Amino acid sequence: MTAKKKILLTGAAGYIGAHTAVELIEQGFETVLIDNFSNSDRSLLQGIEQIVKQKINFREGDCRDAAFLDSVFSKTKFDSVIHFAAFKSVKESVLHPLKYYENNIESLTALLRAMHRHQVNEIIFSSSCTVYGQPDSIPVDEKAPLKKAESPYGATKQMCEQILEDTVKAHPSLKVVSLRYFNPIGAHPSAHIGEMPTDVPDNLVPYVTQTAAGLRPKLVVFGDDYPTPDGSCLRDFIHVVDLAQAHVRAVEKINDLPHRIEYINLGTGEGVSVLQLIKKFIDVTGVPLNYEIGPRRPGDVVKTYADAHKALALLNWKTKRSLDEALQDAWRWQQKI
Ligand code: NAD
Ligand code: WQD
Repeated sequence: MTAKKKILLTGAAGYIGAHTAVELIEQGFETVLIDNFSNSDRSLLQGIEQIVKQKINFREGDCRDAAFLDSVFSKTKFDSVIHFAAFKSVKESVLHPLKYYENNIESLTALLRAMHRHQVNEIIFSSSCTVYGQPDSIPVDEKAPLKKAESPYGATKQMCEQILEDTVKAHPSLKVVSLRYFNPIGAHPSAHIGEMPTDVPDNLVPYVTQTAAGLRPKLVVFGDDYPTPDGSCLRDFIHVVDLAQAHVRAVEKINDLPHRIEYINLGTGEGVSVLQLIKKFIDVTGVPLNYEIGPRRPGDVVKTYADAHKALALLNWKTKRSLDEALQDAWRWQQKI
């Protein structure tokens, strides 16, 4: 049996990083987790340990800090890096663009430099369906043109992809998989880890669960007059555990991929409307939800869902978990925190 790869995860105390850490550790990968807790706290790390029933190898520090990265890279000869660390709020990025450009761009460039210094040649990058903006047609495949970013956050994801593209050209040994996530939702079924918004959530599902839990008076549906079957926006909601498992496949397959940089959508391939999701939540949990229709949210994409065939072809990955499971898991997690 070949030895399992050694993996560095940045932003590992966050929502998707923590779920990916669990999947990698359960599959026997040696992992080192780093985070600066700028948008998380230590509790998810304890949650990871409860699930995997072992101590994790965690180092606190900032991805932009070259000395910190050198100390981490000198201790372990990594095979691959999975780079989650970034700020992710569209709304905040409009108010504080420099905070987003500084963190999201500099954390990637500092990491690439450290990888180069320490001869680590594989990176999996957390990109987003936001790079497609308002798509011309759905489902969206990876060849769809990237539209002008709707927010500084979206611009950072496009710029990071460009940085990776240019760096691959300049460094023939570098291999990159840029995973374009659609809408991750849900939590680990154990309810030991899940999404932990530090502020009022921007995203739909945490808002739904917080409203159902009585933490917010009501949910506002941002528009029901769009050209969609029920008038509300259409999205591709993917269970975070499915998403995490795609990272394991990416780490396993990165050396077999046709190109040294691959862009791969991660989604279910199905569009679900905001109103359908709300009704499904009420149905599967049996919990009433106070919601009303409000005005459209500026900048919202009307309808998008993934063409997920490339992930199946290249990573042998597709989603396994249903929307019902994702909403039940999100609710179980909400009741715990
Ligand atoms: P998150 O905020 O829960 O996790 C990100 C983690 O990175 C946090 O723990 C934060 O403390 C850490 N971090 C941020 N800057 C850092 C730095 N400079 N050094 C060290 N740690 C740092 O976010 P998430 O939902 O887990 O998202 C992970 C990645 O996936 C992000 O790059 C995000 O842009 C991307 N993404 C998320 C979504 C989504 O809807 N959640 C969708 C598409 C893409
Ligand atoms: C989903 C739908 C809202 C809250 C964002 C980022 C994107 C990516 C995924 C990171 C929309 C509606 C929401 C509410 C509502 N993240 N909604 N009431 O907009 O698809 O994408 O997360 O890369 O970059 O922009 O996700 O969860 O904010 O919204 O009606 O209180 O729910 O209008 O149609 P979105 P979301």
